[in-house]
Amino acid sequence: MHLDGGRRRGFFLTLEGPEGSGKSTQAQRLAARLTAAGLPCVVTREPGGTALGEAVRQILLHAPEPSPAPAADALLFNAARAQLAAEVIVPALERGEIVICDRFGDSTLAYQGFGAGQPLEALRSLAQFAVGDLSPDLTVLIDLPVEDGLARKQADEITRFEERADLDFHRRVRDGFLALAASEPDRFVIIDGRLTVEAIEQAIFEALRPRLGPGGPGRKVPTRTIAGAPDASPLHSSEPERSSLRMDR
Ligand code: TYD
Repeated sequence: MHLDGGRRRGFFLTLEGPEGSGKSTQAQRLAARLTAAGLPCVVTREPGGTALGEAVRQILLHAPEPSPAPAADALLFNAARAQLAAEVIVPALERGEIVICDRFGDSTLAYQGFGAGQPLEALRSLAQFAVGDLSPDLTVLIDLPVEDGLARKQADEITRFEERADLDFHRRVRDGFLALAASEPDRFVIIDGRLTVEAIEQAIFEALRPRLGPGGPGRKVPTRTIAGAPDASPLHSSEPERSSLRMDR
């Protein structure tokens, strides 16, 4: 479902996954690739992405003891999200751009819902209040075993979500993401986070490309095509290039 009213022309992609899944690296790589193809895109992250959101991020990730109640967490994540949607995501989509967001609403369902036990329905209502019907066109879930992901985290990246939560919490989060993906197979693509960085990048690109259509988001698909004519769109270019875009799993 989209926030729309006919105004939305861009494409909204979110990256999700448990700790250490490499989403941020992939967000940057995808943006570089799209930009090189001449497609304007915006990279942002949650919590954060706006002045208000970054301030909320500091509270959320480094909150003093005692830890915020799970409901307080859910409200703060959604406060940052509401601002990000209004200030960054919706305007970019209205300009016809591709928005790449490192975590979005599924993280709240996975962490505060499946992980911390808050009721999913309440969390969904909260998200609806925060961002209305704005929902990703594509969600890439980079999945990997929790032990692998936590082992990748550097000491300076440790937030209270890794520090104070046990392995069982992170297993529930991972299983939660997988359950969300299973419930919306059209929106989600699951990629094995143990693949190489290059292979994951390629898999994300392959998932995105057919969904953008010829010419990328917001471009009018030509009503008439000439059989055999080369496709001049930046994402569906010449055959040699196309073969170089294949996944090397
Ligand atoms: P961050 O350092 O950005 O982690 P990562 O690189 O794994 O995204 O910290 C974000 C933390 O906040 C991460 O532990 C997941 C957690 N989180 C939630 O619990 N709920 C949410 O809605 C979001 C967006 C993040």
